Amino acid sequence: MQTKTYSKLSDVQKLLVKKAEEAASNSYSPYSMFPVGAALLCEDGSIITGSNYENASYGATICAERVAISRANAEGMRSFRSMAIIAKGGKSSNPITPCGICRQILYEAGRYSNRDIEVIMSNEKKDRILVINISKLLPFAFSPKDIVIKRRSSLPHK
Ligand code: THU
Repeated sequence: MQTKTYSKLSDVQKLLVKKAEEAASNSYSPYSMFPVGAALLCEDGSIITGSNYENASYGATICAERVAISRANAEGMRSFRSMAIIAKGGKSSNPITPCGICRQILYEAGRYSNRDIEVIMSNEKKDRILVINISKLLPFAFSPKDIVIKRRSSLPHK
């Protein structure tokens, strides 16, 4: 695993990791006790955060990454460059990596952003950080190109 330390990140990557860390402190995760934060950099430079939001019906849980993308969508953002993710208090010193569902969501967001979204994945101590684009995190992805889409002209799908 080719990891970096926080000090080797660019200024914008550092900012995203910090924002993700702040968002993790707002996580609602009484079941897993595993707070996760995400920070999404939009094309216009704005940053939208998310944190995991759990439920006693475990399957209703929403990961930090999807909270951030859904929030961005509700704000009318449809173009993204990068996302940072960090978790607190896990048992591993490895960087957190997004779950399969979040990879799928990030992949499609990348398609309509016309970008291979950069994913910055940090461990809690920020001394092991992976930076990998979503197409590498989800090879052979299923995507809108694989289905027949009934388009409404307002939809951004390609
Ligand atoms: N979780 C995230 O928010 N993002 C990830 O990338 C992995 C997992 C959350 C879901 C659940 O609230 C907790 O972490 C434990 O799985």
